[in-house]
Amino acid sequence: MSAEVPIRYRAYRHSGGRVSITHEELSRLNFKGTHEAVVLVEPRFVGICSADVRELRGERPGRCDFGHEVVGTVLESTHASYQKGQSVALNPFCKVTRETGFAEVMYVAGAAELLDTALLQVPADRMEFSAVEPLACVIHAARQSRLEDVGPALVLGAGFFGYLLYCYLKLQGVPVMLANRTRERLDQLCKGADEAGVGPISCAAELEQYGEHFSTVFLTNARLGPEDVSSAVDLVHGYGEIILFGAIDPRDSALHALRNQQQRKRSTLGSKSYFLQGTLDATAADLKESIQTLAQPGFARRLSAIFAPPLTFEEGAAHLNHRAGLPRSCEKYVVRLHS
Ligand SMILES: NC(=O)c1ccc[n+]([C@@H]2O[C@H](COP(=O)([O-])OP(=O)(O)OC[C@H]3O[C@@H](n4cnc5c(N)ncnc54)[C@H](OP(=O)(O)O)[C@@H]3O)[C@@H](O)[C@H]2O)c1
Repeated sequence: MSAEVPIRYRAYRHSGGRVSITHEELSRLNFKGTHEAVVLVEPRFVGICSADVRELRGERPGRCDFGHEVVGTVLESTHASYQKGQSVALNPFCKVTRETGFAEVMYVAGAAELLDTALLQVPADRMEFSAVEPLACVIHAARQSRLEDVGPALVLGAGFFGYLLYCYLKLQGVPVMLANRTRERLDQLCKGADEAGVGPISCAAELEQYGEHFSTVFLTNARLGPEDVSSAVDLVHGYGEIILFGAIDPRDSALHALRNQQQRKRSTLGSKSYFLQGTLDATAADLKESIQTLAQPGFARRLSAIFAPPLTFEEGAAHLNHRAGLPRSCEKYVVRLHS
């Protein structure tokens, strides 16, 4: 198509805690001279991440990752690695210039070398591939576990990330249980797993009975503090490990640094020694394994226990506005941008 003909599309914009749908116009000429290469992607499915909701609420100052769980199809490309029609997922760890994924057309622009890893080829633009980045983060967390004896693991926090981690560990053959501070999510997940025909989920509602049963406890709650660590210490056996996955208030500087700088620290409580391990983001190897894992039909079926039916473009904006005022959602919502 001629460089002069503008591309018209709709996108979500947010301001003051509300999302609106705007009409945008993109000229290919805008990229001339400013970016070495540009790829235009038609997003197919975009996951609504808890980070999107926090960004909308103004709880992530300085971060702008709105609409980053993206799978779609290449529309046009000036980069040799991408051809029209290819299915790609966004690698949000690559700092390129881009449109939000909540858009009918998403441009991804920057230096050719950077762009090379900004989009990852996936087998198809199916909904499960919108989870490439979240699954890569939990694979990364699982790889932070350094214990040689792979005893039972506990995932504490049954949000999307906790459930992904539970499914991944199960696939790896690790004996694993999933628990939550309240019952509703677990009940919903068990119902979803039943409907998806993926068998029961090993859920622990009353953890006290397990004592020091676990070799690794992954903490995936939306917010973590020292009290969560203390409770986890009661559940790990001596020289077990506690993996800090969920977000930590920066005012809790020691724990925050440990998690964000992915440190490992040997600690003691009374006569018990244990390890604290931070985990953040994912590597290229994690992303690659994530794509391979999502391509397994059995794994994708397991995920369907947490996915709500996809939302339309309009419903997605309304859902985000609804979520901005509410603290929780048990299901994982994904916006379908093109049918
Ligand atoms: N390490 C990494 O690389 C990485 C990558 C991505 C995301 N994360 C973090 O992973 C965490 C989980 O994400 P998600 O999308 O799964 O979260 P989510 O769906 O918002 O939260 C799910 C879990 O957090 C609990 N929870 C909700 N609000 C809480 C609060 N105020 N205090 C304590 N617990 C609370 C929920 O319990 P109830 O059911 O009882 O409400 C549930 O167990 C987030 O902190 C996110 O920032 C980490």
